[in-house]
Amino acid sequence: MSEMSSHAAFEAARTASAGAGSPQPGTMPPMPSAAPAATMDNVHRPIGVVRDVAGGTCIVVFDPDRLNECLTDTDPSIAMSGQVSSQIKIRVGNTWLLGVVRTLRQAYTSEDHGGVVAEVDFMGEGDTERLTGNIFGFRRGVTRYPMPGALAHVATRADLRQIYASDGRANIGIGTVHPTRDIRAGIYIDSFLGKHFALLGSTGTGKSTSASLILHRICELAPEGHIVMIDPHGEYISAFRDRGHLLDVSNLQMPYWLMNFEEHCEVFLTSSGSDRVVDADILARCLQQARSKNRLATAIGKITVDSPIPYLLSDLVNILQNEMGKLDKGTGTIPYQRIRSKIEEIRGDARYQFMFSGMLVGDCMTDFIAQVFRLPADGKPISIIDVSGVPSEITQTVVAVLSRLVFDFAVWARDEETRPILLVCEEAHRYVPAERNADGSSVARVLSRIAKEGRKYGVSLGLITQRPSDLAEGVLSQCGTIIAMRLNNERDQAHVRAAMPEGARGFMDAIPALRNRECIVCGEGVSIPMRVSFDDLDEALRPASADPSFALQWSKSGGEDAMIDRTTQRWRAQSR
Ligand SMILES: Nc1ncnc2c1ncn2[C@@H]1O[C@H](COP(=O)(O)OP(=O)(O)OP(=O)(O)O)[C@@H](O)[C@H]1O
Ligand SMILES: [Mg+2]
Repeated sequence: MSEMSSHAAFEAARTASAGAGSPQPGTMPPMPSAAPAATMDNVHRPIGVVRDVAGGTCIVVFDPDRLNECLTDTDPSIAMSGQVSSQIKIRVGNTWLLGVVRTLRQAYTSEDHGGVVAEVDFMGEGDTERLTGNIFGFRRGVTRYPMPGALAHVATRADLRQIYASDGRANIGIGTVHPTRDIRAGIYIDSFLGKHFALLGSTGTGKSTSASLILHRICELAPEGHIVMIDPHGEYISAFRDRGHLLDVSNLQMPYWLMNFEEHCEVFLTSSGSDRVVDADILARCLQQARSKNRLATAIGKITVDSPIPYLLSDLVNILQNEMGKLDKGTGTIPYQRIRSKIEEIRGDARYQFMFSGMLVGDCMTDFIAQVFRLPADGKPISIIDVSGVPSEITQTVVAVLSRLVFDFAVWARDEETRPILLVCEEAHRYVPAERNADGSSVARVLSRIAKEGRKYGVSLGLITQRPSDLAEGVLSQCGTIIAMRLNNERDQAHVRAAMPEGARGFMDAIPALRNRECIVCGEGVSIPMRVSFDDLDEALRPASADPSFALQWSKSGGEDAMIDRTTQRWRAQSR
């Protein structure tokens, strides 16, 4: 079919198949609006016809000439009509069905009249506003499917405004709905936090800045919140100077005795294989004895190796020494010596002082919990824990202790009034790696447990990662809301696609083509999946992750000597 005749043939086919009650081109009454003529025309003249209908999708044949006409429309939602991931509406009796274009291809059979054949996913439906013909009362899900021959129309800005309007639940605005520049994209805070969330995107797409934006908005809405953010690069300190309680190795003061037995093993045991079993056995016995020496233990009665009861490291060393003395001289003493020398090494290492300092022997558990979990918030509902200064060999364990404390605290506070806690974890793939990279670490276990059971105890998890394919699949699938920024890697895309709900597939295909600061949000936290352009975040509220300007920095010099001196100094002192 030639290009000249395709539109006419298309019109004829469409007119023939149009059902009763469907608006016909040219027969619409003039609309009571000051909108430009082109917009009104594009609103009322259909852009395509439904050809096949299946469960959650249909095939629509678009009229390419109509799409071209829409392209120049001043309403960006209309101008985008028919493109991949654009929204369209389909007339079903008196209701409108909203769909998202997933794929497009050129027609290759004559029955499609030279049109553009699109696969469209259904998103939900709404009634027709009598005066304007817009959608109103939008709801998720489909109760009435279209028949083949139903007409497809553009979804206008007014439609999108209705569709994305808040339903009254508490929400935070994070940006604007694409392609409009004024319709606010809102996240329903209870559903968003209630079922965990994941923020995914390739490096530099704006994850950390978006996470700051979301957390700032949450803090504005919930000044008495309890948020714990684990910050592996110390980026968030600058973003939360006013609102955050900032902790790093210089002031964290996390007592070593808060570790449970498994975490103790990760820090104190150096052996592997069968030796490790022997060492673990010895450590368990001696640790229990050391804990039992505390008067708290006497008051409580029965305690276990996991009970967070303070003990003295020197007691533990002495007990190891005594136990060793009871043995006949020989090979049996090696495990004791191994553990003892590791403990001594850690005690003497300045980098470990934030956790193993002699100052931390007192019972400061309640103070520690109060300050880290922001109970009470005291105007700073978020605590930023910068673990960048923690020696890398125990970072995992430190994160494990913090995460486990959040969970255990929630479990033991079950009889109290619930005070939900949000735990946000940057670079989450490091802590809960995919099964193929799993190393059986305690942090992976505790985060997986929070992902599975946290909701029941009011613990919410926020996972941020640039490599979703390296994140344990089970954990990703527990995230009720997924915020996907651009992902360049195909394996990452496939993982996110698998974790996304059915209806979001049309948007999903746009993920490789998203611009920086754009994302697809789908799942529990939003009424329907949407593509969002994040708001510009005030510079003072951004994390310290700005891209360096090579052009600028490499065109000036000065002060290098002093800079190197200062850096070397910090490096040697191992403190900032
Ligand atoms: N909403 C926003 N407002 C202002 N600037 C932004 C916004 N989002 C991103 N940027 C800018 O984009 C750049 C990269 O952002 P960001 O550091 O958040 O990316 P990232 O995805 O966390 O990267 P990485 O994976 O390397 O940690 C920064 O310079 C940041 O200032
Ligand atoms: Mg980042």
